Amino acid sequence: MKIVILTGAGVSAESGLGTFRDKDGLWTKVDLKEVATPEGFAKDPDKVHAFYNMRRKNARAAKPNAAHFALARLQAEHDGPVLIITQNVDRLHAAAGSEALHMHGRHDLACCWTCEARWDAPDEMSSADQCPSCGSTTTRPDIVWFGEIPQYLDEIARHLASADLFAAIGTSGQVYPAAGFVSEAKRHGARTVEINLLASDISDLFDEHIVGPATEVVPRWVDGLLQG
Ligand code: OAD
Ligand code: ZN
Repeated sequence: MKIVILTGAGVSAESGLGTFRDKDGLWTKVDLKEVATPEGFAKDPDKVHAFYNMRRKNARAAKPNAAHFALARLQAEHDGPVLIITQNVDRLHAAAGSEALHMHGRHDLACCWTCEARWDAPDEMSSADQCPSCGSTTTRPDIVWFGEIPQYLDEIARHLASADLFAAIGTSGQVYPAAGFVSEAKRHGARTVEINLLASDISDLFDEHIVGPATEVVPRWVDGLLQG
């Protein structure tokens, strides 16, 4: 059985990293057009760098939680492929020992808008930074902003087409294309499960719902899958 899992901010919430759209979420405090769009970056790059410098610092200090560890266990022990796709830019899946496709980029990488070089992001980035490859000052965090195309979409489409089970964990279903993955997997015959603290905007699309905090419900769900 091939399992494809999509994770969102809810899987890292109990590691102390805030979500975006919950009460007190990041997008209730900061205007996403200013800090998470190419236009916002063109207008005030240092404001955008300051925002990601803060998020990078928080992400570097955070520790993986029981949900990340359970998913790593599933990837290691399940008798079949387990693909994790994450919308998160933190590295908590990797810290727990699993591999994940970062469709919205990674806080710990920087890239260049001129030559597309990528390198490890320093703790603090600024608009004065030069690209180590071409020398231009068009460096940016390797984060996918609104209006940009997420990474790995071809690879993800292939996996969704061959999934037997698709799970969405801790994601609100408000951001496409990720919110469309459930329909895509279902169209190709996968059973679908939503795991979330609350019902999401797209809960109706799933065959099964598991409601509760990720650190409690994900390990239980993984135990069930591994026991077959
Ligand atoms: P959201 O903030 O939109 O949604 C977080 C989801 O996690 C909600 O559905 C919550 O109910 C759920 N949640 C919160 N705490 C939880 C917990 N302890 N256990 C389980 N579920 C919990 O975050 P995302 O759906 O990840 O993109 O947002 C998607 C994208 O929008 C992000 O990748 C980011 C953002 O703008 C970019 O910045 C490009
Ligand atoms: Zn460059």
